[in-house]
Amino acid sequence: MVKAIEWFEDADGPAVRIIDQTVLPAIEVYLDLRTVDQLVDAIARLAVRGAPALGAAGGYGVVLAERQGTAEGWSADRLDAEIERVALARPTAVNLAWGARRVDAVRREGSGDTLAEAHRIAEQDEAANRDLSRAGADWLLERIGKRPLRALTHCNTGALATTAWGTAYGVLKELHARGALEFVYVDETRPLLQGTRLTSWELAKDGIPHVVEVDGAASSTILRGLVDFAVIGADRIAANGDTANKIGSVAVALAAHRAGIPFLVAAPLSTVDATLASGDLIEIEERDENEVLAFGGTQMSAPGVRGFNPAFDVTPHDLISGIVTEHGVVEPTVTQPAFA
Ligand code: MRU
Repeated sequence: MVKAIEWFEDADGPAVRIIDQTVLPAIEVYLDLRTVDQLVDAIARLAVRGAPALGAAGGYGVVLAERQGTAEGWSADRLDAEIERVALARPTAVNLAWGARRVDAVRREGSGDTLAEAHRIAEQDEAANRDLSRAGADWLLERIGKRPLRALTHCNTGALATTAWGTAYGVLKELHARGALEFVYVDETRPLLQGTRLTSWELAKDGIPHVVEVDGAASSTILRGLVDFAVIGADRIAANGDTANKIGSVAVALAAHRAGIPFLVAAPLSTVDATLASGDLIEIEERDENEVLAFGGTQMSAPGVRGFNPAFDVTPHDLISGIVTEHGVVEPTVTQPAFA
């Protein structure tokens, strides 16, 4: 299984080692991020991405800042500011700030081992992913009275987006392992093509039959009855179950609702932000307009045209059939609020 992110040390010092997701699947190259600047830049460019992987990046980022601060003689204020830069490098996935704050709390106590805490985040994420994948597969198989199942997924939620195994992708993998998955429709996931480049790469490695479709095909695929359920990951889940995920997710949810098929959100509890009562309080990252206006490095729009590039949308909880975490499935339409 590919490792999206891990801690690494050699004669040149410590590093956060990531696989560069901006160039996959054409090039498999690992980057050793040795400074806070390099880590923050990698997060902003989506070289490391996906909410749970960002949780690990936040945790390891604190350790990296600590080590760099010691080597360069930073003041306490400077170290605090650099840690804050890591925590806020992207705004929507709550895991990033959650991971950074969790390890920073150990640093502030002064007695704990920050690296051990960061490793714990990674280990717990893998365990959570495996647990929620089993629970998600059980729930789907119980709800849908046919085998094998045909699925639709959006964005990338596999090992690349986590510390190992995957969330929504983990559910697909679990179904596949049980011989209960026939086929997956993968949304390309405009504008950065996490579906085309990353999910299909992981599915191919795992031998799971699939096709990639344009995002605009998803609702029609669902309404034509080509899939039995849709499953996505999450970047932040509010207390009432409203879920922020990659832009395009809400269109999938609307179509699934209309078609009467299950729409499952799969995420570890670290993605739940119980401090937010509802999804309208979730900050949505706005990215560079040129990600939308250009394709493969070529400008597609006429000169002067402006782009609109929200990276995420919020699916209201009443469109979500189930949210599966490592603690099992919550059905937001039945149990409200979902995460009090
Ligand atoms: O912008 P990205 O690629 O970081 O967005 C990722 C997603 O939206 C994923 O679906 C989400 O983080 C869950 S990853 C298990």
